[in-house]
Amino acid sequence: MISKAFVLAAYLLVGGLADDTDCSSDISVSNQSDLDGISSCGNFTGKIDISDAAGVLTINGLQKVGSLVGTNSSITSISAPLLEEITDSLDFEQLTALETFSMPVLTSVGDFKLVTLPKLEELQFNSGIQKASAVYIADTSLSSLSGLNLSEVTTFNINNNQNIGNVSVHITQVSNALEISFNSPKVQVSFPDLIWANNATFRNCASIDIPELQSVNESLGFFNNYVNGLSFSKLEEIGGDLSIVSNNDLSNVTFDSLTEIGGALVIANNSKLEHIAGFSELSSIKGALTIQGNFSQASMPSLENVSGDVDVESSEEFDCGDFDDAKDNNDFHGNVYMCKGASSTVSEDMSSGAQTATDSSAAGSGSGGSSAAASATGGASSSNAGFTVPVGGVSMAGLAMALFSLF
Ligand SMILES: *[C@@H]1O[C@H](CO)[C@@H](O)[C@H](O)[C@H]1NC(C)=O
Ligand SMILES: *[C@@H]1O[C@H](CO)[C@@H](O)[C@H](O)[C@H]1NC(C)=O
Ligand SMILES: *[C@@H]1O[C@H](CO)[C@@H](O)[C@H](O)[C@H]1NC(C)=O
Ligand SMILES: *[C@@H]1O[C@H](CO)[C@@H](O)[C@H](O)[C@H]1NC(C)=O
Ligand SMILES: *[C@@H]1O[C@H](CO)[C@@H](O)[C@H](O)[C@H]1NC(C)=O
Ligand SMILES: *[C@@H]1O[C@H](CO)[C@@H](O)[C@H](O)[C@H]1NC(C)=O
Ligand SMILES: *[C@@H]1O[C@H](CO)[C@@H](O)[C@H](O)[C@H]1NC(C)=O
Ligand SMILES: *[C@@H]1O[C@H](CO)[C@@H](O)[C@H](O)[C@H]1NC(C)=O
Ligand SMILES: *[C@@H]1O[C@H](CO)[C@@H](O)[C@H](O)[C@H]1NC(C)=O
Ligand SMILES: *[C@@H]1O[C@H](CO)[C@@H](O)[C@H](O)[C@H]1NC(C)=O
Ligand SMILES: *[C@@H]1O[C@H](CO)[C@@H](O)[C@H](O)[C@H]1NC(C)=O
Repeated sequence: MISKAFVLAAYLLVGGLADDTDCSSDISVSNQSDLDGISSCGNFTGKIDISDAAGVLTINGLQKVGSLVGTNSSITSISAPLLEEITDSLDFEQLTALETFSMPVLTSVGDFKLVTLPKLEELQFNSGIQKASAVYIADTSLSSLSGLNLSEVTTFNINNNQNIGNVSVHITQVSNALEISFNSPKVQVSFPDLIWANNATFRNCASIDIPELQSVNESLGFFNNYVNGLSFSKLEEIGGDLSIVSNNDLSNVTFDSLTEIGGALVIANNSKLEHIAGFSELSSIKGALTIQGNFSQASMPSLENVSGDVDVESSEEFDCGDFDDAKDNNDFHGNVYMCKGASSTVSEDMSSGAQTATDSSAAGSGSGGSSAAASATGGASSSNAGFTVPVGGVSMAGLAMALFSLF
C-alpha cells in the first residue's frame, strides 16, 4: 500500500509539475534558471524574451520555440544545442556584447533579424538554415553568411556589415525585397540560383553576379558600386525602374535579353561608362529615359516606345542623331525631349511636340559644357547660356528629387 501510495504521489507530483510548466505563454527570462524552467517543454510555442538576462545563456532542452527575441548589452553568449526550429521570429537587436551565437541544429526560422551586434563575428549554424522568410542582418561584425543555406525568402537585406566580404547564397526567389548595401567595399555578391526578385537594390558592392535572374517585378537599382561590369543576360523584364547610377568603375553593361522596362531607365554618372550598349533587345520603356554622364556612344537599337520624357546628356562629344531620329519617328511620347553632348547639336522639344529647337552655336561655343554641368545638377531651369528649357527644367528638378529620395 505504501509503495502504491508513493507511486501515486510521485505520479501526481510529476503530473502536477508538468501541468505547471506553461509551454505556450510568452515568457521574459532574467537568468539561466528561468530558461531551465522551460527546458522540459521540448516544444515551447510562446515567445522567449531574453532582454532582462545577462552573461552566458544556454537554451537547454527545447527543439522548437515560437519566437526568441532580445536586446541587452550584457549578454555575451547564446546557445541552443537542440533547437531545430523557430516558428515565428528570431530577433536580436542591440546585443552589443554578444560574441557567441550557436544553434548547431537550427534549420528553420520565420523572420530572422540580427541588428547591431558589433561583437558578433561568426554564425554557428552548423546544419545550415534551410528555411526563413524575412532575413535582415545589419551592423554586425560577421565576416560571412555561411550557415544560411536558404532557397526562398520574402526579404533578404544585408547592410552595414563592415567585415562581410562575400555574400553568396543559393536563394532562388525573393518575393519582397533584396538589398545588399554598405557592407565591406570589397564585398563580392553572388546569387547563382536566383531566378526572380520582387525588387533589388545594390550599393557599394565590388562585384554582383546573378547569372540566372529572369525577372524583377518592381525596381532594380545599382548605386555607388565598385563593379567593372554588370551582366544580366537572362533578365527579360523589369516591372519598375532600372537605375544604374554613380558606379564609378563601371565600364560595361549587358542586359541583352531585356525587352521591357515598366518604369524609368536611369543611367547616370557612371564616369567610366563611355559606351552605353548592351540593351540590344530593349524596345519599350514605360517611364522616362534618362542618360547622363560622360559617354561618347549610347545605342538602343530596338527601342521604339518610350512613354515618358527623354533626357540624354553627355559632357563628352556625343552624336544625338539616333535619338533625334527616334524622336522624329514618334517613338517618344513624353512631354520633354532633350539630347545634347559637349559640343554637339542641342536637341530639345517641349510638350506640344511642335518643334525641335536646334542651337548648335550655343553648344559649340564652349558654353554648352557649362550648361550641361548646370543641367546635371538638376538646376537647369530658365536661362542657360544658349537655350531655355522651361518644361524640361521643372521635370528634371522633379527627377533629381525623386532620385535623392531613394537614398
Ligand atoms: C532568476 O530570475 C527570476 C525572476 O525572473 C527570479 O525569481 C529568480 O530568483 C532568479 N534566479 C536566480 C538563480 O537568480
Ligand atoms: C516538437 O515538434 C516536432 C515537430 O514539430 C516533433 O517532431 C517533436 O516530437 C516535438 N517534440 C516534443 C518534445 O513535443
Ligand atoms: C540587461 O540585463 C541585466 C540583468 O538582468 C539588467 O540589469 C540590465 O538592466 C539589462 N540591460 C538592458 C540594457 O536591458
Ligand atoms: C543546402 O541545402 C541543400 C538542400 O536545400 C542541401 O542539398 C545542401 O547539402 C545544403 N548545404 C549545406 C552546406 O548545408
Ligand atoms: C564565397 O563563399 C562561398 C560559400 O560560402 C564560396 O563558395 C565562394 O568561393 C566564396 N567566394 C569568394 C570570392 O570568396
Ligand atoms: C520592394 O518592394 C516592397 C514591396 O512592394 C517595398 O516595400 C520596398 O520598399 C521595395 N524596396 C525597394 C528598394 O524598392
Ligand atoms: C514576379 O514575377 C515572377 C516571375 O514572372 C512571378 O512568378 C511572380 O508571381 C511575381 N511576383 C509578384 C509578387 O508579382
Ligand atoms: C562586356 O561584357 C560582355 C558580357 O559580359 C562581354 O561579352 C563583352 O566582351 C564585354 N565588353 C567589354 C568591352 O568588356
Ligand atoms: C568622367 O567624369 C568624371 C567626373 O565627372 C571624371 O573623373 C572622369 O575622368 C571622366 N571620364 C572621362 C572618360 O572623361
Ligand atoms: C507605347 O506604349 C504605351 C504604353 O504602354 C502604349 O499605350 C502604346 O500603345 C505603345 N505604342 C506603340 C506604338 O507601341
Ligand atoms: C549626377 O551628378 C550630378 C553632379 O554631381 C548630380 O547633380 C546629379 O543629380 C547626378 N544624377 C543622378 C541621376 O544622380
